[in-house]
Amino acid sequence: MDQISKAVQLLNQGEVVGMPTETVYGLAAKIDSDVGLQKIFAVKARPFFDPLIVHVNSILQAQELAAEWPVAADLLAKKFWPGPLTLILKKSSKVSPLITSGLETVGLRWPSHPIAQDLIEKVGVALAAPSANKFGRTSPTTKQHVEDEFKNEVFVLEGGESEVGIESTIISIKDESEFSLLRPGMISLNKIQDYLNEHRIQNIWTQSASKQLVPGTMKHHYMPPKPLVLTNRMWPPHLLMDEIQKKISELPTEIEGVKIIRPTKIVQMHELHLPETPALAARGLYQSLREASGSSADVLILIWPEHKRGGEWSAIWDRLSKAASLDLI
Ligand code: TXA
Ligand code: MG
Repeated sequence: MDQISKAVQLLNQGEVVGMPTETVYGLAAKIDSDVGLQKIFAVKARPFFDPLIVHVNSILQAQELAAEWPVAADLLAKKFWPGPLTLILKKSSKVSPLITSGLETVGLRWPSHPIAQDLIEKVGVALAAPSANKFGRTSPTTKQHVEDEFKNEVFVLEGGESEVGIESTIISIKDESEFSLLRPGMISLNKIQDYLNEHRIQNIWTQSASKQLVPGTMKHHYMPPKPLVLTNRMWPPHLLMDEIQKKISELPTEIEGVKIIRPTKIVQMHELHLPETPALAARGLYQSLREASGSSADVLILIWPEHKRGGEWSAIWDRLSKAASLDLI
């Protein structure tokens, strides 16, 4: 049996399946299978208050899951789908409250990865899928990452390395003109605003009232197993070591439900390096964090200058600042 047929069979039995997407790998279940949906939360150790994104394979399929389809949603879907953009819209009755954590809205995305598309097509139902990592941890960008995370308990489709490398941009569209950015991604806020303006769509951007529901907006998320320390400048190594030693001992053992490893004595530091363009930096970001965590070092260091903390670097900075245990300015 080929891998897609096997995945379809498992999904139909109420199982979860690791699904490659262009952003990160997801842990998928059919949106009409309560058993499968509950398994997603159990396998991830994810709290039920955190809603799931639904993956579709056409605009028509998305429209069936939304109670309203504003002009702005139509424009953005036609421009950026299939691709790394999630739209939060009022949900239709076809969407289970298990998916939305009881909210009246649903997150919809049409992924561009051919295997994700093939899977949704063949199973014939939209798939709910959060990133395939334990709650609060770094998202997976390869099949191997997912297998490591769930100790081979989950069947994972092979889809190569995720091309984008970080999770989709999430925007919510409250009515025709009121928007909010819930999570930055590689489709930048600027690009979205420019496109809407070009099409004369009035767009007023507000802070979302449901901000706390998006872990992307929690202070600590995407954390690698070893503490990541950021700094905006070069330090003499011994001073840096002393400073980290002092600050790390003051950290709590857990932040927002995510456990932090605090080495008692720092002997070895591992310096991370990321590529110089945002697209390449995003693609390799989680892989670098995982690799560095696997080294024998006690802490990971990343020198990250001020000019890479906004603009085109916004989404990468967002993930870095949330993955970090310390930022030494
Ligand atoms: O790129 C992605 O978006 C990946 C791939 C697998 O598609 N998925 C992903 O899912 O990152 P997850 O669950 O790790 O993050 C989705 C975020 C969650 O933080 C959740 O709170 C938010 O989307 N979300 C989902 N539905 C929502 C809703 N109705 N209102 C507000 N936030 C919502
Ligand atoms: Mg996630």
